[in-house]
Amino acid sequence: MCDLRCEIFANRKSQITNHKSQITNHKSQITMKILVTGGTGYIGSHTVVELQQAGYEIVIIDNLSNSNIEVLDGITKITGKKPYFYQADCLDKAALQNIFSEHGDIRGIIHFAASKAVGESVQEPLLYYRNNIVSLLNLLDLMPQYGIEALVFSSSCTVYGQPEILPVTESSPIQPALSPYGNTKQICEEIIRDTVCATDKLKTIILRYFNPIGAHKSVLIGELPNGVPQNLIPYLTQTAAGIRKELSVFGNDYDTPDGSCIRDYISVVDLAKAHVVAVERMLAGKQKSEIEYFNIGTGRGLSVLELINAFEKATNVKVPYKIVGRREGDIEKVWADPSLANTELGWTAQETIEDTLRSTWKWQLSLRNCN
Ligand code: UD1
Repeated sequence: MCDLRCEIFANRKSQITNHKSQITNHKSQITMKILVTGGTGYIGSHTVVELQQAGYEIVIIDNLSNSNIEVLDGITKITGKKPYFYQADCLDKAALQNIFSEHGDIRGIIHFAASKAVGESVQEPLLYYRNNIVSLLNLLDLMPQYGIEALVFSSSCTVYGQPEILPVTESSPIQPALSPYGNTKQICEEIIRDTVCATDKLKTIILRYFNPIGAHKSVLIGELPNGVPQNLIPYLTQTAAGIRKELSVFGNDYDTPDGSCIRDYISVVDLAKAHVVAVERMLAGKQKSEIEYFNIGTGRGLSVLELINAFEKATNVKVPYKIVGRREGDIEKVWADPSLANTELGWTAQETIEDTLRSTWKWQLSLRNCN
């Protein structure tokens, strides 16, 4: 009898232990939910892929103004998971409220959704100020109401203007913006700083991107520029593909070794991974202060002519180009000192420029095949 009782007791005990360990396992498997605004865009989609692969559950809000719903299929094919998706505008506060109510367990936000064409911003400044600033205000208003404390904000090296000392560190001076687009990034950074200072319920990491290029190695997602591309790489790949006659190199009389402008071109996949690390840092409470800034670049500057050359070498495809006059508002040279991100975030750009350029070319070819 005693033996039987002991056996029942032992069985119960082991059942309880199993149950406990199931709870522990379940706890460690609970996925954290992150809201990604602009998640079907170029940088957004690559970031959603990396986040899902790191085990996060993703809710995307995108108004599809500069992206395509099919991007969701690409994300789903790569990761085997379909993110929640809402076609909504961050200017629409009521729509945001509905989404926040539906997903009461959102732990953090990565805010990409913004207009980003420098030239267009000069033509339509109010569109840029309204879209980029009011969207952020709406999110900052709602975050405390829904108990969301962590925000990663997409900023740009454009805030440094033309730096006097290169490479630029996070403490390099912020220069007057050269375009309404650039100004919105500076204003948004200030709004976030003031809001974080005013509350103990908010923390943020501001990532200042250098020039993102390339595509996911699966060739299922990449950059989808609307109309005639304004940025160098999509114009270059479209020229290489014969869609455009020739690439115009804007100026060869700058104070640089070959006279063309210098930028820090970073793989969009490396950039996406920086967001995963930033989110993890915030959610794990590892920030050193409630607001942190990181340069996300490779630390190496390449001129426009060097980039064309590197593309031709990496792909064996010629790029017809001509030198034309300078583009108004262009900065002569800028590249990052990414050592703070390297040491603090433990993040470093990994991809070689050749691999990145090959991925961008494969992506261009895949687009041509679709047409
Ligand atoms: C600009 C913004 C950056 C923004 C990015 C996204 C500034 C200073 N930079 O980057 O903040 O995040 O757009 O839209 O506001 N080039 C050519 N021929 C072309 C296109 C570009 O020679 O057809 C040259 C440009 O002169 C520049 C380089 O290529 O030297 C890169 O240009 P682009 O890809 O447009 O990026 P940025 O101007 O650096």
